[in-house]
Amino acid sequence: MKDIVEIADVQSQILEAFSFRHATKLFDETRKIPEAEFDTILEAGRLSPTSFGAEQWQLLMIQTREKRELFRDFAWGANGMMHGTTGQLGSASHFGLFLARTSETMKAGSDYLARHMREVKKFPDEVANGFEAVLRKFQEEDFGLTSDRLLTEWSARQAYIALGNMMTAAALMGIDSCPIEGFDVKQTQATLQEHFGIDPKEFYPAVMVAFGYRAGAPAYPQTRRDLDEVVAWA
Ligand SMILES: Cc1cc2nc3c(=O)[nH]c(=O)nc-3n(C[C@H](O)[C@H](O)[C@H](O)COP(=O)(O)O)c2cc1C
Repeated sequence: MKDIVEIADVQSQILEAFSFRHATKLFDETRKIPEAEFDTILEAGRLSPTSFGAEQWQLLMIQTREKRELFRDFAWGANGMMHGTTGQLGSASHFGLFLARTSETMKAGSDYLARHMREVKKFPDEVANGFEAVLRKFQEEDFGLTSDRLLTEWSARQAYIALGNMMTAAALMGIDSCPIEGFDVKQTQATLQEHFGIDPKEFYPAVMVAFGYRAGAPAYPQTRRDLDEVVAWA
């Protein structure tokens, strides 16, 4: 149990981290995140919750300049197009792309899920069978995830939880980040297939993320709606 003084300390660290974090447009190219610190960020993602514990996402880290440049023409949210810079693609210490599993691998009864239950969750057969039945009802009835698109979006939502946790973990260590949805999905899929051997039938590019150290002060102040507009108490 933490005592009150410690809790107050943690509270202020949390709030400090959340006001420190901003969507960084340009990173200091000369600074690399130390490996141990980046490992902590990765662990914050890996240990994040997922619906049914199914771990519906993977993270592709893209580190070499040549590989990042493959995305430059169509990853407009990361290529500095709006800011006249080399963008997050050119300046981030670490650059990743979250891949969400598609319905091919996430539908109840899939080979991926069977292996996941057996090898990761270590479920005995009867538990795995019960789990599959509940998941099937959830997907087909409760949440109506009845199309490939809806199931893939469900996977992507899990990736965003990890994304958020990773950015917060980074901010707590004074590391900057930027979430990135500014890219053309079809062109990203084609690039992933051609240059990284990633099958679009298996993985969908959900969101990108850049980490590093800001090159300068944020371009704009942090603005948010008031709390009473954001939260309703019933
Ligand atoms: C899912 C998501 C996608 C985003 N995509 C981009 C992007 O492509 N490029 C970019 O520079 N910022 C992107 N942003 C940053 C938002 O514009 C930013 O978070 C928002 O304006 C609030 O500003 P702040 O994060 O600096 O407080 C994205 C944010 C989120 C959550």
